[in-house]
Amino acid sequence: MSKLTEMMEWLDLGAHYNDLKDVHLRELFGKDLERTNNMSIEACGLFLDYSKNRIQDDTVGKLVALAEACGMKDAVKAMFSGRKINESEDRAVLHIALRNRRNNAIEVDGENVMPGVNSVLERMANFANEVRAGTWKGYTGRQILNVVNIGIGGSDLGPAMACEALKPFSKREITVRFVSNVDSTHFAEATRDLNPEETLFVVASKTFTTQETMTNAQTARQWVLDSMKDEEAVARHFVAVSTNADEVAKFGINTELMFEFWDWVGGRYSVWSAIGLPLMLSIGPLNFMTLLEGAHAMDCHFEEAPLWENMPVVMGLLSVWYNNFFGAHTHAVLPYDQYLHRFAAHLQQLDMESNGKSVGKDGEPVDCETGPVIWGEPGTNGQHAFYQLMHQGTRLIPADFIGFCKTHNNLSDHHDKLMANFIAQTEALAFGKTADEVKADGTEGTLVAQKTFEGNRPTNTILAEELNPFTLGALVALYEHRVYVQGVIWGVNSFDQWGVQLGKVLASKVLDEIQAGDDAKLDHDSSTNGLIRRVREGK
Ligand code: F6P
Repeated sequence: MSKLTEMMEWLDLGAHYNDLKDVHLRELFGKDLERTNNMSIEACGLFLDYSKNRIQDDTVGKLVALAEACGMKDAVKAMFSGRKINESEDRAVLHIALRNRRNNAIEVDGENVMPGVNSVLERMANFANEVRAGTWKGYTGRQILNVVNIGIGGSDLGPAMACEALKPFSKREITVRFVSNVDSTHFAEATRDLNPEETLFVVASKTFTTQETMTNAQTARQWVLDSMKDEEAVARHFVAVSTNADEVAKFGINTELMFEFWDWVGGRYSVWSAIGLPLMLSIGPLNFMTLLEGAHAMDCHFEEAPLWENMPVVMGLLSVWYNNFFGAHTHAVLPYDQYLHRFAAHLQQLDMESNGKSVGKDGEPVDCETGPVIWGEPGTNGQHAFYQLMHQGTRLIPADFIGFCKTHNNLSDHHDKLMANFIAQTEALAFGKTADEVKADGTEGTLVAQKTFEGNRPTNTILAEELNPFTLGALVALYEHRVYVQGVIWGVNSFDQWGVQLGKVLASKVLDEIQAGDDAKLDHDSSTNGLIRRVREGK
């Protein structure tokens, strides 16, 4: 395959961009009254209106031509068939198997992975049912009322986001907390009001070697022992979620209390696996299965729908359009639902750890920009913080607006107001306010320019009836596949993360130096040496 930016389809998009870059959404909407009907997709309980993008009716066709030339269909097939598409780690990429509710065989190295997936799900469900029913007791015979997940990155963000998102479906008697940061404050504050005798720790780590998680897990172990003064207590207050049985056993957790997953599940794609245990403890096995159903529905859509009607494909390609042709550096994700307040944080890891690459699968430097910076906050809070820049700043910030017709908390007219803002913002971003319109309001002089809104700021709107396990499953899977679509276009491996290694190695050396206190041995640059000395002296 030729270099991406030399491909005919890429060059065609470049020319198309030149034709379109100065065309305003006002004009595009004005000349096509059917625009929204033609530029929307409905699937898996989600409605995507992508008409407020800077595209013409032939733009998606051109983007799809690029996708086809980049082998999108084969890439999708390769993932679903269990091929080892994570080549740098020689692994298959099968988060889709974790939610494969039709249960067809998916083979890795000649072995069907589905019996293993189903058996872990069953073990998780049995355990969750026992804890939720109060029959799983702590060491002193007390019921478990608190679950504390200890994990970081993918072993934290997905389940933490989903526990918040699905709070209305949770068993409120059980408090679920997440400790991720190696900063002792996180553990101390998360446990300060908990009774150890009523607390279950889920130590979640794919590798079971991650410094932050192991440090927090050791502290938790001591916290339990300080209270119950018997090693036997560990077995009633700790379970593990990991791919690494040896390390789990070394830590002192009985491997019968380990819920396994597999190397073909990437950390940031693992909420559907046993990493979802704290979520299942919170919302129960049935709701957890419905979450999997929602994700599975999106998987089927992604696998089967034609590229131009395929929600993750269209969203992925639009993101490429802004990232590579309009030069947008960031992408905002703006959920108009307080329960999704951790959604952008989860997407940050999902997208930025996946596509934050400057070398392609072939080991050569990529010849275009890759993953954008993903960020966002729930509406309407963002409106009173960073929307000013989105409306009138010099940068183009494509944004996804996510909202739900129904609320779980029907208090007076809050929800109508929330949704009014949700809709009004995309209208304002798209159409703005012209200088003439500003003058017509009676404004004069230099204020006219300052009160003018250029508009032409692109957005996607994703609307669903209600935030529930099914829609959340579909929504998260939508973004997972969107990430893959972009990775395929850019030719990067979206499933490894070598860029996190160097910091980990250096931190372990610096840790020794902070603790050893031997100035003569410091062999870094002057800044690093100086900072180590200062921390040592000041601690
Ligand atoms: O940040 C790097 C990373 O490897 C992530 O990919 C992963 O989600 C996280 O660390 C935690 O890893 P583990 O589950 O092995 O503790």
